[in-house]
Amino acid sequence: MTENTTPRLSEDRLINVPAGFPSTHYAVSQLFTEAASDRLAFWDNQARQLKWTTPWHTTLEWNRPFASWFSGGRLNASENCLDVHMASDTRNKLAVIWEGEGGAITRYTYAELHDEVARFASVLVNTFNIKPGDRVTIYLPLIPQAIVAMLACARVGAIHSVVFGGFSASSLIDRINDSQSRLVITADGGYRRGSVVGLKSIVDQAVECCDSISAVIVVRHTGHDVTMVSGRDFDYTELLHTTHDHYPPIPMSSEDPLFILYTSGTTGKPKGIIHTTGGYLTHAKYSTALVFDLKPVDIYWCTADVGWITGHTYVVYGPLSNGATIMLYEGAPDYPDKDRFWQIINRHKITILYTAPTAIRAFMKWGDHYPHRHDLSSLRLLGSVGEPINPEAWMWYFREIGRNQCPIVDTWWQTETGGIMITTLPGSEPMRPGYAGKALPGITIEILSDTGVRIQNGSGLLTITDPWPSMARGIWGDNERFISTYWSRFNSYFAGDGAATDPEQSIMVLGRVDDVLNVAGHRIGTMEIESALVDFNPIAEAAVVGITDDIKGQAIIAFTILKEGHPITPTLEAEVINWVATSIGAIAKPKRVIFTPDLPKTRSGKIMRRILKGLAEGSPIGDSTTLANPDIVEAIKDLLNKH
Ligand code: PRX
Repeated sequence: MTENTTPRLSEDRLINVPAGFPSTHYAVSQLFTEAASDRLAFWDNQARQLKWTTPWHTTLEWNRPFASWFSGGRLNASENCLDVHMASDTRNKLAVIWEGEGGAITRYTYAELHDEVARFASVLVNTFNIKPGDRVTIYLPLIPQAIVAMLACARVGAIHSVVFGGFSASSLIDRINDSQSRLVITADGGYRRGSVVGLKSIVDQAVECCDSISAVIVVRHTGHDVTMVSGRDFDYTELLHTTHDHYPPIPMSSEDPLFILYTSGTTGKPKGIIHTTGGYLTHAKYSTALVFDLKPVDIYWCTADVGWITGHTYVVYGPLSNGATIMLYEGAPDYPDKDRFWQIINRHKITILYTAPTAIRAFMKWGDHYPHRHDLSSLRLLGSVGEPINPEAWMWYFREIGRNQCPIVDTWWQTETGGIMITTLPGSEPMRPGYAGKALPGITIEILSDTGVRIQNGSGLLTITDPWPSMARGIWGDNERFISTYWSRFNSYFAGDGAATDPEQSIMVLGRVDDVLNVAGHRIGTMEIESALVDFNPIAEAAVVGITDDIKGQAIIAFTILKEGHPITPTLEAEVINWVATSIGAIAKPKRVIFTPDLPKTRSGKIMRRILKGLAEGSPIGDSTTLANPDIVEAIKDLLNKH
C-alpha cells in the first residue's frame, strides 16, 4: 500500500435525504437493476436519447484498451445540443445566462445560440476552409463565445482543443504544436478581479512558435487595444457579419474525435486526452440528467471554466444536450466582494450549484455572513467536484448554502473518464460526508490492492473494470503512454487515485497516488513544475512536493539547489515563483521556494520526495536509513524554520 492511500477521513455520519426533496429511491434502484442485468442494452438505451442520423450496428467493440462504442452510428454533437431543440418550446428557452465581472448580463435563447453557432460554423468552413478532423485551439475567457466556438467546431467535425485562459504562452505553444492546430480562437482579453488579462498578446507570442497556425480569430471582449496582424488575425464579430448562412451539422462517425483536452501527468509533458463523439455525448447527456436530477425549470450553474473537463461535460455538452438553462460567470468569487456567488444565485434564481471543495473551503473561511446576506432559497441541489471534500466543508455547504434542504452530490471522475463515475444519486439514499458514494448505473468500479486483489472493505487503488462509453480513447499521438499510464498495472483501468470502500460499496476517494498534485482542484504534475524550475538559469536541481493546504487541498513547495556561486538574493524566491507562473501558468505557482545546498537522495541518486514532504508538512518523515546524505534532513529542517 502506498503512503497516500491511508484514509485521511473517518466519517460515520449519515445525512438523510432532505424532507422536501422527492425520493428517487425506486427509480434509481430500477436503473441499477437494469444496468446490472444487461449493461450493453442499458447503454444502448442511453444512446437512444440522442439524435443519430445513422443508427449504430454494434454497441461495443472492445480491443483492450481501445473501445469502439456505437460503431456504424453517425451523429453530430452540435446538432444534439442545439438543432434538436429547435422544433420544441426549448427553442425560446434561455440556453445561457452570462454575467461578467463588471456586472454586464447577456442572455441567449437556444434559437439565438443556434444562430450564432451555425453562422460561425459557416465562417470556419467558408473563410478558413476548416475540414472534419482539423484541430482548432480555443483560448478564451469564460464568455458565451467559448461555447459558440466549441459547438461550431463540433458542427463542422473539427476537433477542438480548449486551453484554459490561465495557461502561459509556453503552455499554449506545447498544446498547439502537439495537436497541430490550424486555427486559434481567442479574445483581446478577459477580466480577473477588476484587471484585464491580455490573452491576445499571449497568443501573439505563442503563434510565433507554431507553424501549423494559419489564422487567429479574436473576440472583442475587453475592448482594449491589441495588435492585429493583417492577413493572420480576424475580428470575430466582423467575420460573423459576413454571413447569415446556417452551416448544417456534419454527421460524424460515433468514434470520430470530438475534442482533445490536455491534462497533467507524471512526466513533464501534458497528455492530450481524446474523447470521441457518440460515447462521450451519451454519457454526458445521461449523467447530467441523472446526477443533477435535471428538470426543465432548473437554472443550472456549474462554476468550472470551459478550459477543464468539468466545463466541457457539465457546462456545455451535458446541460445543453438536455435543453437546460446554464449560468456562466466570468469573474472571481470575491469580486467586488466575497458574496458574489450568493448574489448571482439570488439574482438569477439558480437551482443547482456545482462547484469545487477549494471554493467551498474559501467561502467557509470568509464567514457565514456573506451567504446570509442573500436569499438562497432557489437552490435545491448542490454538487462538488475536483478533489476530496472534507466532512467539515461538506457539512458547512449543506447547512449554510443548502439550508439543510439540498442533497449534495460529491462526484468523482477525471478528464480521462469524460463524465461522472461515482456519486450518491440525489434523493436515492442517505449521504455520508466524505464519501463520494457508488458507481453510477452502467459503471463498474473495483478497489484493488497493490497486487490486484479486490478489496471489499478497506483501502486500495481505484479502478474501473468494464469499458464505458465516455472513456478516453487514447492520448493524442502517444498510444504507448496511454497503455502504460492506465492499462499496464491491472487488467482494468487504473485511475491513479487511492480509495477506500465499505462493504456496501460506498467509496471514499483519498487522492492521487502518483506524482500528480491537485491544487485547488487543478491537476499539476510535479515533473512539469520541476522541469520549469530547472529551466530557470540560476537553478541546478529541483524537487517539488505537495503539502496539505486548508483551502486549496494541496500547496506546492519547491526545493531547489542553485548553481555554484549563485547568490540567494532577497528577491530570488519571488523571481522563481514568477518564472513558474510564466512558464506554466498561475495555477502552478509554488507557495514557497526553499534554497537548499542538497536534496535527500538514495545511494543511487533518487530524490526522496517523501522525506521532503514530511519535512515541509512537519509530519514524521518515516524511514530515512536509505539516504546517502542523512545530514541534509536537519539542514532542511533549519531552512524551513528560518523561512
Ligand atoms: O484525484 C481525483 C480528483 O481529481 C482528479 C481528476 O482531475 P481532472 O482530470 O482535472 O478532473 C477534475 C474534474 C473531474 C482525480 O483523479 N477528483 C476529482 N473529483 C474528485 C476527486 N477526488 C476526490 N473526490 C472527488 N469528488
